[in-house]
Amino acid sequence: MVRVERSEVAIIGAGPAGLVLAHLLARAGIDCVVLEERSRNYVQSRVRAGVLEHPTVELLRQLGLAERLDREAMTHRGIEFAFAGQRRRIDLEALTGKCISVYGQQEVVKDLIGSWLDLGAVLRFEVSDVALHDVHREHPSVTYRHEGESHRLEVAIVAGCDGFHGVSRPSVPAGALEVADRVYPFAWLGILAEAAPTNEELIYSSHERGFALYSMRSPSVTRLYLQVPADESLANWSEARIWDELAIRLPTDAGFDLRQGPIIERGITTMRGFVASPMRHGRLLLAGDAAHIVPPTGAKGLNLAVADVVVLAAAVARLLHEHDETGLVEYSAVCLRRVWRVQRFSAWMTTMLHRLDGEDRFARQLQLAELDQVTTSVAASTALAENYVGLPFGPH
Ligand code: APR
Ligand code: PHB
Repeated sequence: MVRVERSEVAIIGAGPAGLVLAHLLARAGIDCVVLEERSRNYVQSRVRAGVLEHPTVELLRQLGLAERLDREAMTHRGIEFAFAGQRRRIDLEALTGKCISVYGQQEVVKDLIGSWLDLGAVLRFEVSDVALHDVHREHPSVTYRHEGESHRLEVAIVAGCDGFHGVSRPSVPAGALEVADRVYPFAWLGILAEAAPTNEELIYSSHERGFALYSMRSPSVTRLYLQVPADESLANWSEARIWDELAIRLPTDAGFDLRQGPIIERGITTMRGFVASPMRHGRLLLAGDAAHIVPPTGAKGLNLAVADVVVLAAAVARLLHEHDETGLVEYSAVCLRRVWRVQRFSAWMTTMLHRLDGEDRFARQLQLAELDQVTTSVAASTALAENYVGLPFGPH
């Protein structure tokens, strides 16, 4: 027996994209159901991104979802670059009037899930066998299993917010998607350490031995990354080796104090730029990592997902309230314009900061010249800062 349900929008995935979309639609009076394959505990504890752009924070505030964020997030007014034995700061606030917020993605997800459930809205965890049907017709549906029951959810729109490994993008017929893909020959080994940050802001360090990033999560937890070979295994990195390499690559000779502490989480992140287009297929709209991924160097993944769903929510509201498909028709082009500007910035940051095996002296000198220019020229640092704090949302 199949339980038939009806709503206006099916949101596949309870990550940043799905959860922000759900709140945007609810604010527009649009009924939606969120389907998540993992458990609540899993999605709320998954360590991912940690930097929120200015537009993302402003949106969460407008949605009334930033109360804990405003209490606990760390506001950063600048970022540092370390190279050739020196440290240089880019004053984001002076150059753009905006700041970034450091606040773990899992905290954002926790806040949004709590808010969604407090609204009494529908979010089903641990669903399985999710499948999309008739997305090219006016009444698509999603079938799934939940708590031993089979369901068919009949809707007007399916929002594919199920990440890079989700079911939505593969539901698009082969040949209907154009994929642009760049896999970098290196990865990031990331750790969370119970060590109070000793620097107020992030440090992006381009060292002869490779890139390192100094970040943080709270007044007691530091977040650190090391560039490693793309196929590196965590087994090759003892705690001692991790700390030794961080001490070499981070600017400890330039007055930076690397405080060590117990490593409470570690992982290896691949470095990849990927875009599937178009992002709309009939009544299926892809958003966030379901459509694109960016190398984490620019701290853009979560923020780009949010930017997509701002456009998606407006398009769906126009369709359901005004019976006007214009927003749907324009959805992919509007999102992709920002996606490619963010891909460009992320690729540029990645290329500027990471070392390639076999890179000749000339290439290294070009990197150092680029870092010198971007940390001394007002025009160049302003361009970096504008991208780093976040491009405006919406169809600009
Ligand atoms: N059915 C239901 N849910 C699914 C399915 C499925 N078949 N497949 C995946 N999911 C869920 C995942 O468990 C996850 O909770 O979809 C969610 C997708 O969330 P994210 O991967 O975080 O993707 P998104 O919301 O687009 O956020 C993208 O946030 O994670 C950061 O920086 C990271 O770029 C990334 C950004
Ligand atoms: C993080 O804190 O996880 C982080 C910060 C900046 C980045 C990437 C990751 O560019």
